[in-house]
Amino acid sequence: MDILNLPVSLEKGRRSRGLVLINTMPDIRSGKRDDFMSGFFYFKGQNYLFRIWDKDVFEIILEFGPGIYVAETLGSDYNGPYLTVKSIDVYPGTEVTRDDFLGGIPREDLERRLAAIRASLDQLGVTASCWDLLDSVLADPRLEDRFMIEGAAIRHHDNVFGGLANHTLKMLNILRAVLENNPALRVSADLLVFSIFMHDIGKVFEYHNLEMGEFWFANHRVRGIEFLASLKDEVIRRYDESFYRQVQSVIAGHHGLYGDHPTTVAATIVHYIDVLESQTTELLREQLNTPGSKIRHPDFGFLQDIPLSEEES
Ligand SMILES: [Fe+2]
Ligand SMILES: [Fe+2]
Repeated sequence: MDILNLPVSLEKGRRSRGLVLINTMPDIRSGKRDDFMSGFFYFKGQNYLFRIWDKDVFEIILEFGPGIYVAETLGSDYNGPYLTVKSIDVYPGTEVTRDDFLGGIPREDLERRLAAIRASLDQLGVTASCWDLLDSVLADPRLEDRFMIEGAAIRHHDNVFGGLANHTLKMLNILRAVLENNPALRVSADLLVFSIFMHDIGKVFEYHNLEMGEFWFANHRVRGIEFLASLKDEVIRRYDESFYRQVQSVIAGHHGLYGDHPTTVAATIVHYIDVLESQTTELLREQLNTPGSKIRHPDFGFLQDIPLSEEES
């Protein structure tokens, strides 16, 4: 049996049957008549909304949880396209595995891009000490070499293997422009580069190969600060306590209004870079994911689309 072609099966009125991956536990919501299930089928970095109206149908998902299923779907539309699941059952086979659904950015690509951005940041004040420190941090055995492999999210932007490194590299590209525009900041280039690498590093512990990690409830800011604290002596030996405390403030404050508010200029700048990078990635992905339909923004309502090429962004 084949993996369901999700973009094709979303077409309104179309009935399809095939294999789907449920990567995170769907929600149960209360509807007008009865409770219903709302969740996502995941395929190579994209999430496709599905709903199940019949309790007898969604019961099996409550019982077996995330995994590969055989689903019969109907393309539907209400405030945007989604799939109504008519029937669903656990996939009994072994030929198709979770890996067939997961997308990834090749490590060589990430390493090549890192070398290129590193060369241009060196022109803008980043010193060898910063890269030395980063090399030793990224080689720390507790990261299990997953900084270049882990996703940046399960549902949101860069939710593919390599997504965390991809998000970090895109932020460094934006930082390069910020340093070019603001020469006064270049004396703090090491602090900003090191902080950008560290801001989401706790996702290596929050997630595990694109699934929620065991202790996901202690979020990636908490886990990032815990990891940094274990490197405290090393960071202070190479820089000083002020540098170390500044990096802590970036990890704690990088979500802006959605978390501990930033308390330093560095945390505020990294927050803005983070938002610009992740929101642009998410908006473009959403438009490519549902061509022709309006994009709904949580703060701004419906957005008109922008011309885009079909290439991977
Ligand atoms: Fe974050
Ligand atoms: Fe981030």
